[in-house]
Amino acid sequence: MTLLSVSDLTVAYGRVTALDGISLSVRQGEIATVLGANGAGKSTLLRAIVGAEKPVRGALRFDGRDVTADPVHKRLAQGIVLVPEGRRILISLTIEENLLVGAHLRRDAEGIRRDIAAIYERFPNLATRRHMAASCLSGGEQQMLAIGRAMVARPRLMMLDEPSLGLSPLFVSRLFDLIRELNRDGLTILLVEQKTAKALAVAHSATVIELGRVVMAGDPQILQADPRLQEAYLGRSPQPAEDPRPIRQAIS
Ligand SMILES: Nc1ncnc2c1ncn2[C@@H]1O[C@H](COP(=O)(O)OP(=O)(O)O)[C@@H](O)[C@H]1O
Ligand SMILES: [Mg+2]
Repeated sequence: MTLLSVSDLTVAYGRVTALDGISLSVRQGEIATVLGANGAGKSTLLRAIVGAEKPVRGALRFDGRDVTADPVHKRLAQGIVLVPEGRRILISLTIEENLLVGAHLRRDAEGIRRDIAAIYERFPNLATRRHMAASCLSGGEQQMLAIGRAMVARPRLMMLDEPSLGLSPLFVSRLFDLIRELNRDGLTILLVEQKTAKALAVAHSATVIELGRVVMAGDPQILQADPRLQEAYLGRSPQPAEDPRPIRQAIS
């Protein structure tokens, strides 16, 4: 079943067209990834899905409903939740207060308490410092807090904008384990990443965008093997068609 469908989405910042007719869909229960170089339009896409950017053209459907005209809070109430680029933790607030930010649309105090307890169980590092300012957390811990805060909003679609950016290798692998775990527990995830190989390894479907357009889409394993992707995003130069040595040997 399709949970999110994006059709012909076009977003402009003044005269700059950031998204130029993007179409893609995310199935219920999957990890979908969107890849692309800096400036490709990945953050704009996620921001348009949550309602923070207004498209000039195109439509968004979530769980069968047209949400294109819905404001941010209405989409959030539907379960469309973004963990933004750069995490956006409120560092002067405590860890617990940051988690409560994720619950601001909820009124079920008991349910919120239970969800926060579950987050502390998952992230003991956050639990022990719950009443301390979030500024005491490392970058990796802040990313866990940002994800925790998103979970308190009861997401049905969690979108992550370059969550591994700036994290140590240890936290990067913990982060990808966490993404797998959350998905196994039933959460649908839309992951934007720079770590292309890692994202393709966890994802069930992938879309590559370039200058606001879809240039490749499909099975992550097939994309992983595609030389165009390897060249553009995995930083590997294409193999030369022939090894020059035999040629020289043939001449001499
Ligand atoms: N607030 C903004 N005002 C003007 N141009 C923007 C703004 N945000 C992004 N852009 C432009 O839109 C394009 C896509 O940006 P972005 O969505 O941030 O790409 P990505 O997340 O893939 O790096 C880029 O050309 C960028 O310079
Ligand atoms: Mg971005």
